[in-house]
Amino acid sequence: MSHSRPQFVKTQFGKVLGESRSLDLLSSQFEVREPSAVSMDVMLRSLLLYPVHIFLMLFSCNVSVAGLVCCGMKMLVFGGSGRTGQVLVRVAQQMGWQVQAPAHAECELADARAVSDLVLASDAALVVNAAAISGLEACLDDPLKAHVVNAVAPAAMALACRHTGARFVHLSTDYVLDGRRAGKKMESAKCKPVSVYGESKREGELQVLDALPGALVARVSWICGNPLKPAFVEQLLMKALAGQALAAIADKQSMPTDAEDIARVVLALAASPERGVLHVCAGGEPLSWYDCAVLALQTAVESGYLAAVPQVAMQKRAEVPFFREERPAYTAMDNSKLLSLGIPMPDAAETIRRVSLRFLNERYTAALT
Ligand SMILES: NC(=O)c1ccc[n+]([C@@H]2O[C@H](COP(=O)([O-])OP(=O)(O)OC[C@H]3O[C@@H](n4cnc5c(N)ncnc54)[C@H](OP(=O)(O)O)[C@@H]3O)[C@@H](O)[C@H]2O)c1
Repeated sequence: MSHSRPQFVKTQFGKVLGESRSLDLLSSQFEVREPSAVSMDVMLRSLLLYPVHIFLMLFSCNVSVAGLVCCGMKMLVFGGSGRTGQVLVRVAQQMGWQVQAPAHAECELADARAVSDLVLASDAALVVNAAAISGLEACLDDPLKAHVVNAVAPAAMALACRHTGARFVHLSTDYVLDGRRAGKKMESAKCKPVSVYGESKREGELQVLDALPGALVARVSWICGNPLKPAFVEQLLMKALAGQALAAIADKQSMPTDAEDIARVVLALAASPERGVLHVCAGGEPLSWYDCAVLALQTAVESGYLAAVPQVAMQKRAEVPFFREERPAYTAMDNSKLLSLGIPMPDAAETIRRVSLRFLNERYTAALT
């Protein structure tokens, strides 16, 4: 099923785009200057960014760099209302970035021309794409839109950044991997997505790097840590506090990663010359949702929010009726390349404890006020 579907998507996609790769189409729509012609813009931008780059790199070994001041550098964020985007916008503003984050209603990503025009009209030094159709079933139900939003729109952003000389960071996913083999995967691992979502995100990676080889594709996984957009771990804690029955999937593993860490790492890497695909995720041992649930509940007990760890039923992916699309089993990414850049990340288990405690404390504080 998973192999025929992407083929179907490609066929449908090809029909709409006249059998050409969408990037070719975009390039022909927009006047693309040769690299030599844009190099002066890029050089000038780079010179402007350089002091900030050095400043940020000096501090990049400490991911708690929210206090840094970026002297009003301009940044354009797509998907600023999303789970990661909200945190990214907040952290960037705390660091002194002047952030423009157009809402979905202000810029529809299915309209590549609008996306491109927005980047071209902005004088942002940094453009980050945290927007996507990230629901697997939503992608399954509308594969064409998934490819346009998750692949064509990022390509349009990259191409426009090539014109303006802005640094471009695009968020991608561990679901570009097929996840059939246990163990952590390096950036060089073969990509073979098993879902429409994964297929569209992989196409996005390739098209972004085709359009702008200097772009950074930051692959992230199992994002949590934004209390305004609760992920699995926060949803489970809410259920536990309400005394509801708990269940968690035990047959898929990845690296749960705190949106706060992603935001700080992306902003530090924006100032580096790093290009291509990079795994931006927690370290340590991969966890299943069941493992995450137990760690979160233990944290709730240790911090006095629960009297005892409630029972959690172990589930299999196949038992979840809502899952109409295939979820890969083992997509844990190896983050050693990120560590080699001097940027430490917490372990996945530590991430769950930290995110749980933050969520419980914030919820408690909110209840008091
Ligand atoms: N969530 C995860 O666990 C996870 C795991 C691995 C990778 N990722 C990747 O990480 C990135 C961020 O994910 P996330 O979970 O933070 O995303 P999210 O919460 O689903 O937010 C997606 C954002 O994209 C916007 N958006 C969606 N469709 C749009 C369209 N057609 N036009 C304009 N804007 C549109 C949404 O705006 P509206 O809400 O207003 O529609 C929202 O701001 C994505 O690239 C995703 O693929 C996520």
